Amino acid sequence: MQTLNSSCLCFTTFFLAMFLTISFSSATLKVGFYQSSCPSAEAAVRKAVDKAVSRNPGMAAALIRMHFHDCFVRGCDASVLLDSTPGRPSEKEHPANNPSLRGFEVIDQAKAEIEAQCPRTVSCADILAFAARDSAYKVGGIKYAVPSGRRDGRVSLRDEGFGNLPPPIFNAKQLEDNFARKGLNLDEMVTLSGAHSIGVSHCSSFSNRLYSFNATHLQDPSLDPEFARQLRKRCPAPGSSRDPTVPLDVLSPHRLDNKYYEVLKNRHGLLTSDQTLLSSRATAKIVRENARHGKAWAKKFAAAMVKMGYIDVLTGSKGEIRKNCRVVN
Ligand code: HEM
Ligand SMILES: *[C@@H]1O[C@H](CO)[C@@H](O)[C@H](O)[C@H]1NC(C)=O
Repeated sequence: MQTLNSSCLCFTTFFLAMFLTISFSSATLKVGFYQSSCPSAEAAVRKAVDKAVSRNPGMAAALIRMHFHDCFVRGCDASVLLDSTPGRPSEKEHPANNPSLRGFEVIDQAKAEIEAQCPRTVSCADILAFAARDSAYKVGGIKYAVPSGRRDGRVSLRDEGFGNLPPPIFNAKQLEDNFARKGLNLDEMVTLSGAHSIGVSHCSSFSNRLYSFNATHLQDPSLDPEFARQLRKRCPAPGSSRDPTVPLDVLSPHRLDNKYYEVLKNRHGLLTSDQTLLSSRATAKIVRENARHGKAWAKKFAAAMVKMGYIDVLTGSKGEIRKNCRVVN
């Protein structure tokens, strides 16, 4: 009786385990996914990021933004890394990416290193997720584990940027809706906007706020007038062929921290989509909390990056492991 019982239990456990394996193993990501198949993968990415960011601190911003733009269009499938093919402009050509998205060569460098050690094993989508994490650590001391096992997509279309990538003129409500469609809530939207604590923006992304804003206002009244005056010295009016860049966070442009929220409180937010976070009651509350509690913000930022990294991922036998991140196999 005793043996029968335990073998029953054993059987049940076996089938339960089988069932769980079949139904979930191909659907979720896992920290340390390459531990046995390519143990050096994450270290190789870190090395490439360290080197690139040491040379040019702006690369940290570039890589964090690249992961965001990958995930918001067709999910985190490295579609943002694909080059256009004749007659088919890729995501790289979308105005939110061209000419401002940068850092592709850092991903190429990491991919080349990894291919030499473990060919056709590590996805470009995972390399990008690791690179964003390593960037956040290098310039913000923000540490988190990245669940991996993403696979690479085979499609990238310029026009899919529209309706998926939020433009800088969005107001708080539009931003909330945009992020909600990606499964990210209001707190996560405001918290992730804290990435604008590093990096730069081209003047063309906000110069509408500086010159003939609308019929009744010469400049955006949500912008500090003295700050607007300084910006006009650097930024030509919309339509100029000159398009310089300006730091998104004037208080600590190279440090990923919660100073961004202080910037907003000073009405020095560069983009409409930044300053608007103070204009709605719900988002303003989160801005003030994030400004006050840097450690809590950093923790929420890490968690939101991990969550963003799950958007519409390809796993199991879907997609492929690209050999070269710029072209499908
Ligand atoms: C909330 C909606 C967002 C909008 C409307 C937005 C828009 C923009 C724009 C217009 C720029 C400047 C591009 C240029 O003209 O050069 C920019 C830069 C940047 N964005 Fe966002 N963004 C948003 C959210 C995010 C999120 C969620 C992240 C990452 C988690 C992010 C990371 C960055 C970074 C790091 C830069 C600087 C890039 C560089 O220096 O190369 N942004 N963003
Ligand atoms: C101009 O912008 C201000 C501030 O956003 C707004 O209050 C005003 O209604 C706008 N005027 C017009 C004519 O759109």
